[in-house]
Amino acid sequence: YKDVFILAIESSCDDTAASVLQNDKVLSNVVAGQKIHEEYGGVVPELASRAHQQNIVPVIDMALKRANIAKSQLSAIAFTQGPGLMGSLLVGTSFAKSLSMALNIPLIAVNHMHAHILAHFIDEEGFDKPEFPFLALTISGGHTQIVKVNDFFNMEIIGETTDDAVGEAFDKSAKIMGLPYPGGPLIDKFAKEGNPKAYQFTKPKVPGLNFSFSGLKTQILYFIQKNVAENPNFIEENKADICASIQHTIIEILMDKLKMAVAETGIKQIAIGGGVSANSGIRQTLKDAENKYGWKTFVPKFEYTTDNAAMIGIVGYQKYLNQKFNDASVVSKARIEF
Ligand code: KG4
Ligand code: ZN
Repeated sequence: YKDVFILAIESSCDDTAASVLQNDKVLSNVVAGQKIHEEYGGVVPELASRAHQQNIVPVIDMALKRANIAKSQLSAIAFTQGPGLMGSLLVGTSFAKSLSMALNIPLIAVNHMHAHILAHFIDEEGFDKPEFPFLALTISGGHTQIVKVNDFFNMEIIGETTDDAVGEAFDKSAKIMGLPYPGGPLIDKFAKEGNPKAYQFTKPKVPGLNFSFSGLKTQILYFIQKNVAENPNFIEENKADICASIQHTIIEILMDKLKMAVAETGIKQIAIGGGVSANSGIRQTLKDAENKYGWKTFVPKFEYTTDNAAMIGIVGYQKYLNQKFNDASVVSKARIEF
């Protein structure tokens, strides 16, 4: 068999990323973040697309260089078609189209949400691959989904958020506490030193496998406002406990629904993915669930949790094997059918 070399490009939000895969192995995985958004407390779409324009050429060059692969060796170009910010997606899509035309190699459009799930199929020492069917909990800054994954190209959403995503719950809670964007990793960091049961927050009542996080955000806002009114140093003095309690509540909300999903489907293989699966509390809880509930859980390698192009590349590889190619008329989609 001939080796397949995929160049993958991801530019759906505020990270410009490129990766080169040799079959299902990652040769290079380059991500350029965008500091600029910190000042604004959230991603500014117009600034994001401009930064992608600046970053995309050096990031792709670096990915090829680190992989020690020449453009002429590439088998195909994979790129994120959506979902995401239109101005950001357009940069990656246009670049991928042009390069595939210049090199006369196939073009492969990838759904970012599929990629977060299928990142588990990257060949990595010490990481098992799930077997079909399995359940995927995809938790990111824009999405919260439980997906029944029947096959590489056959998956169905069986639960999702009705308002905010988990990542937003983390980031908005952090913002309320005066922490910089994105606050998720900071809550994770401070939570390590705190008592998860110091403060109680009520969990939302949402039917079925769906989620809601906007009520929790409001609850945390009132909780902080009330306590800061009584003690202006409340946040500073109790940062670790507040963060641990918020994180604990979020993890409980996720676990409640996962248990329901397992009961409904009878599937006990659970894979997590998306930026929030970088969270150490979630990773630990999932690992503990193996003994506690008899599940087999899959927690991705840290660098494949937040947005990256290697995950786009592994979907590209599977699509390549199945000859699922796109022609140059393919367009970016801010919203995309699952
Ligand atoms: O998947 P991702 O990189 O981008 C999207 O597609 O949204 O996810 C970004 C989200 C942000 O909300 C960020 O705060 C959150 O993932 N995040 C975390 C952690 N690391 C990243 N949330 C909690 N704990 C973390 N360690
Ligand atoms: Zn993502």
